[in-house]
Amino acid sequence: MIAAAVMILAMQGAAPPSTPTPAPAAGGWLDDVAARRVRRNPPLGPVPADPTNRWADDEAAARLGHVLFFDPRLSASGTVSCASCHDPAFGFADRRAIAVGEGTGTRHAMTVLNAAHQRWLTWDGRADTLWGQATQPFETASEHGIDRTRVVAHVAGDPSLRAAWRTAFGADPPVAGAPAADVDRAFAMVGKAIAAYERRLVTGPSAYDRWWTRRAAGDPRADEELTDAQRRGLVLFFGKAECAQCHHGALFSDGEFHMIGAPTPDGGPPRDPGRYAAVDRVRDDPMNAAGPHSDAREGAQARISRSLANSPDRRGGFRTPSLRNVAQTPPYMHAGQLATLADVVRFYSTLEGASALDHHRESVLRPLGLSDAERADLEAFLGALTGAPPPAPWGAPPVRAGVDLR
Ligand code: HEC
Ligand code: HEC
Repeated sequence: MIAAAVMILAMQGAAPPSTPTPAPAAGGWLDDVAARRVRRNPPLGPVPADPTNRWADDEAAARLGHVLFFDPRLSASGTVSCASCHDPAFGFADRRAIAVGEGTGTRHAMTVLNAAHQRWLTWDGRADTLWGQATQPFETASEHGIDRTRVVAHVAGDPSLRAAWRTAFGADPPVAGAPAADVDRAFAMVGKAIAAYERRLVTGPSAYDRWWTRRAAGDPRADEELTDAQRRGLVLFFGKAECAQCHHGALFSDGEFHMIGAPTPDGGPPRDPGRYAAVDRVRDDPMNAAGPHSDAREGAQARISRSLANSPDRRGGFRTPSLRNVAQTPPYMHAGQLATLADVVRFYSTLEGASALDHHRESVLRPLGLSDAERADLEAFLGALTGAPPPAPWGAPPVRAGVDLR
């Protein structure tokens, strides 16, 4: 049991509790409570290994994935790519409340930055691997609106993609008329190449991380990394506002699903089933960690996914989003219901407009009743979580002309 807990923590990128790591010490403005909790929100480590994808850290696969991520030809109209909704100019998200591709979806596009650190992908966690997730948008009518046969045919039919495929995987993609099983396998490999690319979409240290690291090292001038407002916001975040109850870990997310009653887009009762509709789907998905296309069918994630059980209290639960680089990706919440960070902080402060929480839903939130100044401080602290975008060439569209994909 303890071993399992340690393993789960390690997979989420947090240090196992038995390892004594230096952490910021209490003193001055940093009270004991905040100092104790701040330990659980360390700087991001390297992305955890993904044994379900044998090309996860393969450079050639990442180069292929980079091109596929930005390729609008992989859509019904030839105009929608992953980057349409995960745009580097907008922190790898978009600025819309509800995503628009070939049609209008039902949820807000979340950033892809640091997604490789997540165990469950998307707001409801209906994918358990990054590569499995990457296959879903193609066959979603409102997103790319095509099917796997067309995805694979596109790769096989484009000379530079075919060459990049051969370099990455050591074989040619299946040609038109290939058996369905070969197409499925190649489709999973498209996902694996895109995931290899996405694993490079991580953010650099934020002001908060620089503060954390310097303060943990005992640097007497560490506090200069944060403004006065950010320091006050930090104490609130980890203290009386209790944000770290769910937004903890290196991602500022516990990776779990909670019903917080964010206002619904139309003010009516919540209609999105959230996690409840995703549990059976991810467990039974042939593209999951336990399925035939996984490279670690008996691995830790496969075991977890295989034994998932659903229950009605999961209705309306959404994954706690990471707060890293959150200032770059308005609007907020699963349907983009809240326009700004100030609106989010006001919601937590008053719970005004909260959608009904019925008896079997958790009602962990109570109105915080923050003053105007406190809300401004909390918002300032969220701004201290913005790290540098991914380095070149990954953080920008690939330069097709003149780039040798082999
Ligand atoms: C039409 C807009 C749109 C397109 C196109 C699109 N996405 Fe998304 N993406 C979304 C939305 C919306 C979500 C949240 C989905 C949900 O919760 O139901 C999301 C979620 C994700 C996530 C989860 C991030 C996390 O932290 O869990 C990843 C990863 C991702 N998309 C990658 C991709 C890839 C790869 C492609 C191309 C193959 C792609 N997306 C195409 C809108 C889009
Ligand atoms: C009980 C767990 C929990 C607590 C406590 C909590 N959050 Fe959240 N937070 C969530 C969940 C879950 C969501 C997504 C809800 C949704 O989309 O419906 C969320 C969403 C957010 C978002 C939107 C992020 C985005 O990308 O859309 C921000 C910002 C945020 N929380 C900040 C805070 C702050 C600041 C506090 C403390 C005042 C806090 N949270 C307390 C669970 C929590």
